[in-house]
Amino acid sequence: MADQAEKLREMAAANEGTENKSHKMRVITITSGKGGVGKSNITVNLALALARLNKKVVIFDADFGMANVDILLGLIPRYTMHHVVRGEKRLQEIILAGPLGVQIVPGSTGLLEMANLKGLERRLLLKQLLELEKSAEILLIDTGAGISKSVLGFITAASDVLVITNPEPTSITDAYSITKIISQYQLHREVKLLVNQVKNEKEGDEVAERFLRVTQKYLQLSLQYVGCITTDSAVTRSVREQHPFLLAYPNSRAALCIERIAANLTEPGHLNAGEEGMRRFLEKISKIFL
Ligand SMILES: Nc1ncnc2c1ncn2[C@@H]1O[C@H](COP(=O)(O)OP(=O)(O)OP(=O)(O)O)[C@@H](O)[C@H]1O
Ligand SMILES: [Mg+2]
Repeated sequence: MADQAEKLREMAAANEGTENKSHKMRVITITSGKGGVGKSNITVNLALALARLNKKVVIFDADFGMANVDILLGLIPRYTMHHVVRGEKRLQEIILAGPLGVQIVPGSTGLLEMANLKGLERRLLLKQLLELEKSAEILLIDTGAGISKSVLGFITAASDVLVITNPEPTSITDAYSITKIISQYQLHREVKLLVNQVKNEKEGDEVAERFLRVTQKYLQLSLQYVGCITTDSAVTRSVREQHPFLLAYPNSRAALCIERIAANLTEPGHLNAGEEGMRRFLEKISKIFL
């Protein structure tokens, strides 16, 4: 853990001074601390809502345990990023084509094995990943529950972090823990917050307000509330039907909420600070897991 802490500090130092570089792709890591708060559903439906706003989106399914993104979309991956890193498949062969042109990279935790590669193998992999930037403007990374080394790696390497919580105290506490780590190791100067499974907008505002008060008091970090999603049976139905609610139930409250959040995120200024691109993301990921 001491080693890991040292690496995180180095990464934070490397984050300094990169903010004026202009690159294309935004990398948003979606995390929560507590499991089961809606990360995978939000990743998939946010990707679709962004695609509707003419953004080219790719999803990295980076959950070590349960890969859920493919299931939510009713897709069956045959190969994962692990095959690509081992040189058994090309990246283009493993990418799943989702609705509205959204691309899905299954088993993206395989990327962490990149640290074992050297020389030509490594260059070949990097070349394929960099090509992804030609067909994607936004990379959404769905992480697993908890604060593991892999989750921290994807948080550190991303250009933006979206923390999901629901109104339950256990979920808020875990979301705060991950935000505190981000602040303490200076991984990012800003974190975005989304409150899921609220009764109404007022409840979302109240949770965000409380979260903001605590972060302002104890952490060196700015918090940007991007909005809330109401508890909606359309979400559970869509999970069972393996058809994302944005498409299956476009007029549901949850769909309208996620559309508003996507519109928020694409407003000028929201995803601008520290624009870093795929190359920077890959450099950071390989450094942290070396
Ligand atoms: N807005 C919502 N309204 C109703 N149910 C919801 C909502 N959001 C999430 N759920 C329920 O929570 C379940 C878990 O959601 P999801 O799999 O997206 O969470 P997760 O954070 O990705 O979980 P894990 O940490 O295990 O990866 C869904 O299957 C659904 O039943
Ligand atoms: Mg999940």
